[in-house]
Amino acid sequence: MELRKRLRQAAVADKYSFHMPGHKGRFPALFGNYDTTEIPGLDNLHCPEDVLCRAQERVAGIYQAARTYFLVNGSSVGIMSAITALTRAGDGVLAARNCHKSVLAGLIHSGAMPVWIEQTLCPRLRHWLPPSPAAVKELIAKHAIKAAIFTNPDYYGLTPDIAALAQVCREAGIAVIVDEAHGAHLQWGQAIGLPQSAVAAAGCDVIVQSPHKTLPALTQAAWMHITDLALGEKLQETLNLFHTTSPSYLLLSSLEYAACWANSHGAAMLRRLKILADMLYLRCKQLNLDFPATLPYRDWTKFLLPNRRGLEGLLRSQGMFPELIQGDKVLFMLTMADALVPQGIAALYRLLPLIAALPARPEEEILPPPLPKQEISPREAWARPGKKVPIAKAKGQISRQVLAPYPPGTMVVAPGQRLEQEHIDYLHKLHARKVIPQWLEVI
Ligand SMILES: Cc1ncc(COP(=O)(O)O)c(C=O)c1O
Repeated sequence: MELRKRLRQAAVADKYSFHMPGHKGRFPALFGNYDTTEIPGLDNLHCPEDVLCRAQERVAGIYQAARTYFLVNGSSVGIMSAITALTRAGDGVLAARNCHKSVLAGLIHSGAMPVWIEQTLCPRLRHWLPPSPAAVKELIAKHAIKAAIFTNPDYYGLTPDIAALAQVCREAGIAVIVDEAHGAHLQWGQAIGLPQSAVAAAGCDVIVQSPHKTLPALTQAAWMHITDLALGEKLQETLNLFHTTSPSYLLLSSLEYAACWANSHGAAMLRRLKILADMLYLRCKQLNLDFPATLPYRDWTKFLLPNRRGLEGLLRSQGMFPELIQGDKVLFMLTMADALVPQGIAALYRLLPLIAALPARPEEEILPPPLPKQEISPREAWARPGKKVPIAKAKGQISRQVLAPYPPGTMVVAPGQRLEQEHIDYLHKLHARKVIPQWLEVI
C-alpha cells in the first residue's frame, strides 16, 4: 500500500508543521473510530433534523449567525453553492481579480458575468492589496451588480475593510458573499489585533469558512454561515445539489469539536499565540529578516519570511514544513495548535539566525499586467469546444480554462477572457518559473 507508506513517511518527516490542517496532528480526539456515514441513529446532512441540526445550531450560536451549514468539501463547495444560489445567468457578480478558483466554478455553474475588481500591488509583498470600498463603489455605479464576493483574509493574511465594503454593497441592494476560508479563528482574536470577521460586520449575507485551515478540524471540514434566514432554503437546496450523498461523520463531528473547543479555549490560545508570534516578529526585526508585518489589515498568524537560497533545504533538515515557499516568500501558518504545543515555534525561533545568514535570492520581479478583458461569461466559454495551444499561440484568443495554480489556487486567467501580448508575456514568465504549464486551452 504505497499511499499509506508515503503517508507514514510524511508524518515522520513533518516534525514541525506550519501548514494546514490547523490541528497540526495535536488533537488525537479527532481521529476516533467514527468513520461512518448516514446510518440510522445519525442524521441527514441534506435535511438535518436531529444531531446534525443541533450541532449546526450550536456552531451558529457560537458565531452568532442566523444559521450554519456544515460542509464536507471545504469552503470550495460553500463558495460555489452561494454564487449558484444567489445569481442567475447574465447577473453581474463583483469579484476581486485574485479570487479563489472556486469563485470561477460558481460562476460557471450560475452563468453569471464577473465584473472584476482591479487591485493594486503591494510594493513590499508584491501581492494584490485587497479591494477598496471606493473602487467597489465606482464599479457599482457603472454595472448592474447582483452579488459581490470578497475574500477576508486572503492566503497571505491581507484583509479588506470588510465592514465598509459590505456597507457600500448594502446601500446598493447587492448580496454579499464572503470567502472567509482563512478566517474561522478571527472570532476569538479581536482583542489582540486580528482583523474583523465578516460574521460580525453588518451587511454580509453569506460567510464561508474553512475551520480545517485554522482550527482543530479535519481537512475539508468547513461551514457556511448566513445572517438572514430568508436565504436558508435556497442555500440548503443548492448545497444538496453539490454535496456528496455520503458525508463523512469524522469530518462533521470535527466541525462541532472545532467550534466548541475554540469557544472554550480560542481566546486564551490566541493570546498565547500572539506572545509567541511577537517573539518571532521581534527576532526577525533584529535580524533584518522582517517581512511586511507592518502592513495594515493583516492577520499576523500568517507568518512570512523572505525566501533565501538554501532555505527550503534548511527547513527540511529540521523537519519543518511551511505552508508555501514561492518566489521571494515563505509562508508559515501559526494556529492555536502552536499555542497548545509550542515546540514548532521554538524551533523556528532558534533557526532564525541561521536563516538570516543564508544568501539572498535575487529574482526578477514578475509584475502582472492589467486583467484581460472579459469578453463572454465563464459559462459561455466553458460550454464551447476548446483547443490546447502553446502559450505563445494564445495571443488574441479567448481562454476556455481556469488558470489558477495551486497552491494557493488564486485566479490568473478566467474562462471568457481575451489574452493580449502583455498577458502572454506574463504567462511565459510564470511558465519559466514552473508555476503554470506550457499549454493553454482557448476557444
Ligand atoms: C482564499 C481561499 N478561498 C477558498 C479556498 C478553498 O477552501 P477549501 O480548501 O476549504 O475548499 C482557499 C483554499 O486554499 C483559499 O485560499
